[in-house]
Amino acid sequence: MIENKWDTSLYENKHSFVWQYGEDLLQLLAPQPGEQILDIGCGTGQLTAEIANTGAVAVGIDTDAGMITQARINYPQIQFSVTDGKEFRTDTPFDAVFSNAVLHWIPQADVVIKRIYQALKPGGRFIAEFGGKGNISAIRQAIYTVLSEMGQFPEKLNPWYFPSIGEYASLLEQQGFDVTYANIFKRPTSLTDGDRGMENWIRMFGNHFFVGMTSEQVSQAIAAIETLLQPTLYKDANWIADYRRIRIIAIRK
Ligand code: BEZ
Repeated sequence: MIENKWDTSLYENKHSFVWQYGEDLLQLLAPQPGEQILDIGCGTGQLTAEIANTGAVAVGIDTDAGMITQARINYPQIQFSVTDGKEFRTDTPFDAVFSNAVLHWIPQADVVIKRIYQALKPGGRFIAEFGGKGNISAIRQAIYTVLSEMGQFPEKLNPWYFPSIGEYASLLEQQGFDVTYANIFKRPTSLTDGDRGMENWIRMFGNHFFVGMTSEQVSQAIAAIETLLQPTLYKDANWIADYRRIRIIAIRK
């Protein structure tokens, strides 16, 4: 039976685009030497290390123990801890909180926004990118269609939260942030590994939908999902995921 667990080697070997795209976001963060910066959902630590390379003091947190073990191996000089962003508390507030490609895993957005606010100094900045309204809509639709036909209830297992700018900015404002920048944009994302790219992606990021299914059922479901997606997302022997991102900057008053 399939269980929910991150596969860190699949993440590092086949999904490096997650942090490679995040490098743009570092320009919005613009870390300064000596600043204290918290990276929420740091995964295996690549962007936390880039923040630290600027001379800032970076701390990475992630809910997944396997990711943090790997982050510590990759960057032993950086402080990482297994902590849920919804539960994070600190006595020494940060100059900035950074988060790349993680907040779409946290439907309780008001809770994490409150923790981020409390983790920042007055005037501190929150810089984030995550999946926005309409993100991976073709992939999500294909998963729903195939699993429903197999007698599953995908809507009950959907782990993803893709808000609109209006929804997320309102939550930030209700918490007391000034939202100084917000953008939503399409970012078609080329998946690695040629014709195996969609299968890798689904196994890495869509495994919540397969809890309780046998590995044969999962393989059968993935093949059917690929068949539905092929006409729109498979081009020149390469899979392209229909990502739509939100980028946001908010300042703690
Ligand atoms: C994203 O980065 O948009 C994403 C990744 C995995 C699952 C869903 C969305």
